[in-house]
Amino acid sequence: MKILVVGSGGREHAIIKSLKNNSNIKKIYAAPGNGGISHDAECVPIKAVDINSMTIFAKENAIDYVIVAPDDPLALGMVDALEEKEIRCFGPNKAAARIESSKIFAKDLMQKYNIPTASYKTFYAADEASEYIKSDNVEFPIVIKADGLALGKGVVIANNRVEAHQTIMDFMLDKKFGDSGKSIVIEEFLTGPEVSVLAFTDGKTVKPMISSMDHKRIFDGNTGLNTGGMGAIAPNPHYTADIAAFCEKTIFLPTIAAMQKEGCPFKGCLYFGLMLTPQGPKVIEYNCRFGDPETQVVLSLLETDLLEIMQAVTDEKLDSIDISWKNDNAACVIIASGGYPLNYDTNLEITGLNKDGGISGCIVYHSGTSYKDGAFYTAGGRVLGVTGIASTLKNALENAYNGVKNINFDKKHCRTDIGSY
Ligand code: AMP
Ligand code: GLY
Repeated sequence: MKILVVGSGGREHAIIKSLKNNSNIKKIYAAPGNGGISHDAECVPIKAVDINSMTIFAKENAIDYVIVAPDDPLALGMVDALEEKEIRCFGPNKAAARIESSKIFAKDLMQKYNIPTASYKTFYAADEASEYIKSDNVEFPIVIKADGLALGKGVVIANNRVEAHQTIMDFMLDKKFGDSGKSIVIEEFLTGPEVSVLAFTDGKTVKPMISSMDHKRIFDGNTGLNTGGMGAIAPNPHYTADIAAFCEKTIFLPTIAAMQKEGCPFKGCLYFGLMLTPQGPKVIEYNCRFGDPETQVVLSLLETDLLEIMQAVTDEKLDSIDISWKNDNAACVIIASGGYPLNYDTNLEITGLNKDGGISGCIVYHSGTSYKDGAFYTAGGRVLGVTGIASTLKNALENAYNGVKNINFDKKHCRTDIGSY
C-alpha cells in the first residue's frame, strides 16, 4: 500500500512512525514533511493547504490512502476534494470540520444538545460586544474567542473591562486574525485541570484514545504566552475511570449523535479539550484532528495497528475493532527555539541526534527541522518532541529529560516542569 500523510509537524511524524509498524505499507509520502520526517517517509514539496496539487499528486501516484492531519486543509475541504476523486482518506469533511473551524458552530451545537460547556454569547459587531462588556452582569475574568482558526492564538482571557475592550478591538476592528475574528464568542471563565481526549469516530461509534495532558504556556508554572503546546503526558492522572465513563455519557456520545443529527457526521479523530470544573467536566474546545503534542504521547502507547483503525473509520466499521494500549506512561518534552511563540531564529545546527534524527532511550518526533548534508537544523518554533516511555510517569519523564539534555542548539528552550500539573 502507498500512504500519503498531509502535514509537517511532530503530530505527523508520530502518525508516520506508528504507520511504519504495518508491514503492508510499502511506501509513505509526507507532504510537505520536514527534515526528521524525511528519514521515515518520502517528503514531497506540496503545501498542506494546496488541495489541488495534493489531489493531483495522490491520483498520479496511485495513493491508496491519504491521512489529512492539520486543521487548515480539513477546514478548507481537502477530504471532500479527495473523496470527489474517489481517493480514500482519513479526516472529517468540510462540514464536519466546522466543529473546530467555527467556535460559534461548536458552542451552538453544545447548547442545542445539552453538552456541558461554559455559558457564552456570540457577537457579530464590535460595538455590540463592547456594549456587552460594560454591563454590570459581566463578571471578570471572561474569555474572548475568535470564531475562526487562529493558529491556537485566538483565545484571550480578559481580566478586566480594559483588556476585554482591547481584545474586541484587536479581533473585530484591527482584524488581527483576518476574517477569523470577524465574529467572536465571549464566554464564562472556568477553572479546573484540563484533559485532552482524542477519539476515533466513524460518525456512529466513538472510541476514545488514552487520555493526555497538554502544557500550552511557554514557561514553567504555566506562565507566559500560549503556544501550540510545550509538552504532554499520557495518560492524564486527573482523568479517572469514573470521569471517563461520565464524559462518554454526557459529552462524547452526545457530540457524535449531535453531528449526525445536524447532517454532518464526523469521521476521523475528534479532539475533546475538557476542563474538570467543580461543577463537572465541561468542553473547552473541540478540534477536528489529532492534537499536537498529545499525538506524540498517545500514539506512542497504541498497540493496535493504526492503519487498521483508520480504515475502519473510513469504512464506518469502527465498532468491529478492539483498540488496545500499552500499560505504560509516555511523556513528551518539546524543545523550542528561543523567542517562540514570538520571533525566533531558524537554521541553527542541532547537535546530539543520531544519523536518523533519533536518540537512544527516547523517541524523537521532529516538529520543525530541516536536513542538509548529514546534519539537522532548526526550521520552526517548536523543533523536536522528545518522548520517553516507562511503566511510571516519573520514569517516562526522566527518560524524556535525559534525551533533552543531550540535544542542543543555540537558544534552545524547553519547560522543566512537564507532567507536574
Ligand atoms: P483553546 O484555543 O480553545 O484551546 O483555548 C486555549 C486555552 O485557553 C485552553 O486550553 C484553556 O486553558 C483556556 N481556556 C479556553 N476557554 C476557557 C474558559 N472558558 N475558561 C478558562 N480557560 C479557558
Ligand atoms: N494541543 C492542542 C492542539 O493541538 O490544538
